[in-house]
Amino acid sequence: TKRVKIEDTARIHDRELLEAAEILREGGLVAFPTETVYGLGANALDEAAARKIYEAKGRPSDNPLIAHVADPEDVEALVEYIPENGRKLMEAFWPGPLTMIFPKSPAVPYGTTGGLDTVAIRMPSDPVANRLIALAGVPVAAPSANTSGRPSPTTADHVWQDMNGRIDMIIDGGPVGIGVESTIVDVSCRIPTVLRPGAITMEMLREVLGEVKIDPAILGPMGADVKPKAPGMKYKHYAPKAELTLVEPAEGQGEDAAAVERMILRVNELAKEKLAAGSRVGIICTDESRDRYEGGLVRSIGARAKKETVAHNLYAVLREFDDLKVDYIYSESFSEDHLGQAIMNRLSKAAGYHIERV
Ligand code: TXA
Ligand code: MG
Repeated sequence: TKRVKIEDTARIHDRELLEAAEILREGGLVAFPTETVYGLGANALDEAAARKIYEAKGRPSDNPLIAHVADPEDVEALVEYIPENGRKLMEAFWPGPLTMIFPKSPAVPYGTTGGLDTVAIRMPSDPVANRLIALAGVPVAAPSANTSGRPSPTTADHVWQDMNGRIDMIIDGGPVGIGVESTIVDVSCRIPTVLRPGAITMEMLREVLGEVKIDPAILGPMGADVKPKAPGMKYKHYAPKAELTLVEPAEGQGEDAAAVERMILRVNELAKEKLAAGSRVGIICTDESRDRYEGGLVRSIGARAKKETVAHNLYAVLREFDDLKVDYIYSESFSEDHLGQAIMNRLSKAAGYHIERV
């Protein structure tokens, strides 16, 4: 696996990306930065190339890939038609952390869409991603560049840990900006439906579209009757190796000072019990609460008052606890409005919906 470092992401030279673009055109695999997480790219129109992605990640082949484009014009060839709501969202949020589901055109192979008649498309805003896709001259299928089941990579080193020896090249563009995967909205149905929450929040979508639904499967543990519409959301994603427990205030209590105080006390209590029994314990807290913990490996995930910092550090903290080989992780939780919804979706899944109410 060749590693290429982009010297200055504010001033990208095409020569830094030409070899990567060539690899993509010829059916190889290149990991590259986007504004959300690092992606593992292959030519989306080449079924054999898409198959290599599944092999490198150890990903189930019914889990469809997102096709990344460099220009909104590139969508036309990939879809049956662009619904009105899709157009509105492209105008409002592209380039950016928003993926849309469209009815696919015959040009997109079923090997890319996991056998579905729809295709997921996103135009990233990251300049390295955008230039690479443009130079490749083909839509680039790219899931997150992690081994299936591990937290998504937010640095080139994370990609290296999972993919070294399995892919042709890693483009290192430094740490990503956002840190959680794109929002996915199905615009192929009458009422647009969010299949995965992300940095384009429910509030932002409603401002543009009015009525927006959320796939019930992403709000809680899945019963036999609730199947997520995004096949990937059914797997136990984002899983750390340790057993993670989320401590959450009782429903509707938000994160006011009293609720936060109860969470801190309970996390301390749970950690002490396991420490006394000789286990290795990790604690996920915030900048505001860091000084309140008395034992275990304490890591701040960011500032409660600035949710972007929490999203940004989330996966790196989970990976760090994997490296530290802790047995148990206890985490504070966050209110589910705005970006908090994406954060809590990822944390709840990492915890396997193991949640303690206080
Ligand atoms: O931010 C992102 O979206 C990153 C970067 C690299 O762009 N990519 C990413 O891809 O998160 P991945 O493969 O890790 O997640 C794609 C999700 C999966 O849950 C998959 O099931 C869903 O999108 N998906 C893809 N195509 C779909 C379709 N046609 N219908 C429903 N869900 C789809
Ligand atoms: Mg993923």
